[in-house]
Amino acid sequence: MKVLCSTGAGVLSVLLSACSLPQPPAVSAVSFPEPESAGAMLLQQHCAHCHGAPTPDTHDASSWPGVVYRMQTRIVTKAYQPMTDEEMEALIAYLQKYAGSVQ
Ligand code: HEC
Repeated sequence: MKVLCSTGAGVLSVLLSACSLPQPPAVSAVSFPEPESAGAMLLQQHCAHCHGAPTPDTHDASSWPGVVYRMQTRIVTKAYQPMTDEEMEALIAYLQKYAGSVQ
């Protein structure tokens, strides 16, 4: 029988090590604040179709609503599932909470 990993490794380290098995692709190269929150979910659900979902610190709080509204029109134009008003509000609140200083 072919031994894939070092023999003394044990099951856990076999699972954790890269070994020679193919690895699943990373879910996302970036990490978002409060990853389990509704806002972070909405961001990844609605904002990653056309480009990578931006992190909230890429705009300041005053700029986010305008960006999100502009993106909603792009979403509609491309026939992706549009955000509901409630989803847009929750997403904007999330983006503003962790906004940066760049306009
Ligand atoms: C239907 C495709 C599409 C989706 C979905 C989409 N975008 Fe965009 N996004 C674009 C295009 C095209 C551009 C470049 C032109 C522009 O800025 O309007 C862009 C540019 C951007 C930029 C850089 C320009 C700027 O104003 O800083 C940000 C930030 C951004 N999108 C955020 C978002 C967010 C947040 C969402 C989710 C609500 C989203 N995008 C969803 C197509 C999309």
